[in-house]
Order: sequence, then C-alpha cells, then structure tokens
Amino acid sequence: MTTRMTLAAVVLALPGTAPAQDGFAELKDQCIACHGEAGQSETPDTPSLGGLDAYYALVSLVGFRDGRRPSEIMVPITEEMSNNDLRAAADWVAALPDPVPPEAPGDPEMMERGAALAAAHHCTQCHGADLRGGKQMPSIRNQREDYLLKALGDYKAERRFGDRAAMVEVVQDLDEAELSALAHYVAHLPAE
Ligand code: HEC
Ligand code: HEC
Repeated sequence: MTTRMTLAAVVLALPGTAPAQDGFAELKDQCIACHGEAGQSETPDTPSLGGLDAYYALVSLVGFRDGRRPSEIMVPITEEMSNNDLRAAADWVAALPDPVPPEAPGDPEMMERGAALAAAHHCTQCHGADLRGGKQMPSIRNQREDYLLKALGDYKAERRFGDRAAMVEVVQDLDEAELSALAHYVAHLPAE
C-alpha cells in the first residue's frame, strides 16, 4: 500500500533540475513508431497518447521504469531514461492532439449498455464530463478499444494499481462483458 500511496509524492520529488538532456530526443522516433505521430496509435494494444496530461504521462513513465506498472515493452524502454528524459517525454505527450473517434460508429446495443454502465459507475466523476481527463486524471475518450479493455482487465486482475488504486475498486464488480461494453462505448464516443 505504501508504494501506491506515495507514487505522486515520488514523482513530484524527482531530482534533476538541469535542462532536459538528449535521452528522449534519441528515442522519440521509436515512441512515434508505436504510438503514432499525432497522438493517435495504429498499433494493437498500444495506447494513443493524445489528450494525456504531463502529470499522468510522467506518473506512468516513472511507474514503468520503477517497476510499479508492468509492461514487457515500456519497462525496458524507460529503464535507461533519466528523470529529465522522462520529463521531456511527458511534455511531448502533453502537447499531442486528442485522438479522434473511429470512422465506423459504435454498435448501438454496446453503446447503450456502455453508457448505462459508465453512468452507474461514475466514470465522469473522475475522468471529466467529456471523459477527457484533466486534473491528473487520464483522458480516456476515443482511446483505442483494445487498449481500454486491456487496461480495465489489468486493474481487475490487480496487475496494475495506479496512483491511488481508484480503478481497482471501480472495476471490481464488473464482468468481462461489462468491461467490453465500457471499452467499446468510450472508444466510439462521437466527436463533440
Ligand atoms: C515497441 C512499442 C512501443 C514503444 C517503442 C514505446 N511504447 Fe509506450 N507503450 C507501448 C505499449 C504497448 C503501452 C501499453 C502498456 C500497458 O499495457 O500498460 C505503452 C504505454 C505508454 C504510456 C502510458 C499510456 C497510458 O495511457 O497509460 C506512455 C506515457 C508511453 N507509452 C510513452 C512512450 C514514450 C514516451 C516512448 C518513447 C520513449 C514509448 N512510449 C515507446 C508501446 C511502446
Ligand atoms: C474514483 C475516481 C475514478 C473513477 C470513478 C473512474 N476512474 Fe478510471 N482512472 C482513475 C485514475 C486515478 C486513473 C489512473 C490510474 C493509474 O495511474 O493507473 C484511471 C485510469 C483509467 C484507465 C486507464 C487509462 C490509461 O490511459 O491507461 C481507464 C481505461 C479508466 N480509468 C476507465 C474508467 C472507466 C471506464 C470508468 C467508469 C466505469 C472509470 N475509469 C472510473 C480514476 C477513476
């Protein structure tokens, strides 16, 4: 529990006030190859980064590097990155444009089910009225459906805890079909 509680404090206390080094610049092409250039990922199970704020991006990157958040891909990438490299990466993420809705509209039945579940489980209370996050909460609107489902499953299986384990609690009583409906709904929300 302590490691979970102190994550935000750890990030804020990260040493390193010198200007950002070149560590991120060297890796940036790799980041883009997987996550896409304009905040929109075309890679299976790989999140779009557009819409995430710098704080959430930094917490995530530090979480990978320091072993609090599992990922066979992101852990080795961040392992060699300094605090300043991670800061530069988080600033890059924060400047990316929001992802756009998929071309095909959502399945009406899944959209209806997802909307009801989102209302019942208060997603907007933390992720914002439009689900675009803010105030240190990740944007989830128009995130890739496969990644959303993976993330929700990781919280449910307690493979991923996040900052205050809020999500572990949210998904506790939701079954696979409900998580699928939620992921489908959030991914396919129309443009505002
Ligand atoms: C080989 C592909 C690959 C490369 C290269 C890569 N990523 Fe990732 N990244 C992923 C995957 C897959 C995940 C999802 C991890 C998980 O399942 O939680 C991820 C997750 C993330 C997240 C968390 C997003 C969220 O919504 O929680 C951030 C931030 C991120 N990557 C930034 C970067 C940056 C910055 C770089 C370059 C330094 C980079 N990634 C390079 C594949 C990649
Ligand atoms: C009590 C506040 C709270 C509520 C309610 C909540 N969330 Fe979250 N959510 C969070 C926090 C905090 C995080 C970031 C946790 C972390 O760092 O892993 C998060 C992360 C997520 C992520 C991972 C995002 C990413 O980019 O990896 C998804 C997906 C998500 N929430 C979906 C939902 C859905 C769907 C609902 C409603 C069913 C919901 N959340 C309700 C607080 C909340």
